Amino acid sequence: MKLVKLIANLGYGSRKDVAWMFREGRITGADGEVLYADDKVEHAQIFIDGEPLDPPPGLVLMMHKPLGVTCSRKDPGRVVYDLLPPRYRIREPALSTVGRLDRDTSGLLLLTDDGALLHRIISPRANVAKVYEATLAEDLRGGEAALFASGTLLLESETTPLAPATLEVLGPRHARLTVTEGRYHQVRRMFAATGNHVETLRRVAIGALALGELAPGAWCALDAEEVERIFATMPASPA
Ligand code: URA
Repeated sequence: MKLVKLIANLGYGSRKDVAWMFREGRITGADGEVLYADDKVEHAQIFIDGEPLDPPPGLVLMMHKPLGVTCSRKDPGRVVYDLLPPRYRIREPALSTVGRLDRDTSGLLLLTDDGALLHRIISPRANVAKVYEATLAEDLRGGEAALFASGTLLLESETTPLAPATLEVLGPRHARLTVTEGRYHQVRRMFAATGNHVETLRRVAIGALALGELAPGAWCALDAEEVERIFATMPASPA
């Protein structure tokens, strides 16, 4: 692909804007030498105003979504795209969230411009584990793990029961729940079905990809090995 189109597609500006950036000498190689629009250069060897060019299509980002931020492009309030450089909002192909987290849920959120990968992650057939930690308004009663594992729990206004899910009790009002589906408000509705109420909810892992030490609001690009972790099983946590 021609450099002007490549850089414009990454959201740096229109093709006209990018052509001007070349003319102004703002687009350089690794050693600072000015590049021209018809040069043949590796992506990794292109710098704009001294900064490496954003990654090419096939991008997968992992973000620690903070509370109070919406997984939407259009919401009038704070949205996840506000946490990224403004050009990421207008990249082509478009960067989309892989599923959603509620506004009042924090934790691991993936974004990608790879449609096939996105569908592979959210497809119910892929059985990708989503791991949540919840704090609850009431003490756990003791029967929740068996109910969630049963594969018979029917959420209000739904016609098919939930797939089996795994509950680990971390404290009287603190639990880790692993689900493989992504139904609307699923975790909150599961605890509501047991007469409890979720006070805080954080997604800590998708497959074997863990949120780790990523601070709220921070994000990073994933490499191929990290992307494959999404489809691997999380090692069992120590008893
Ligand atoms: N389940 C919920 O209830 N909310 C989320 O954001 C994710 C899973």
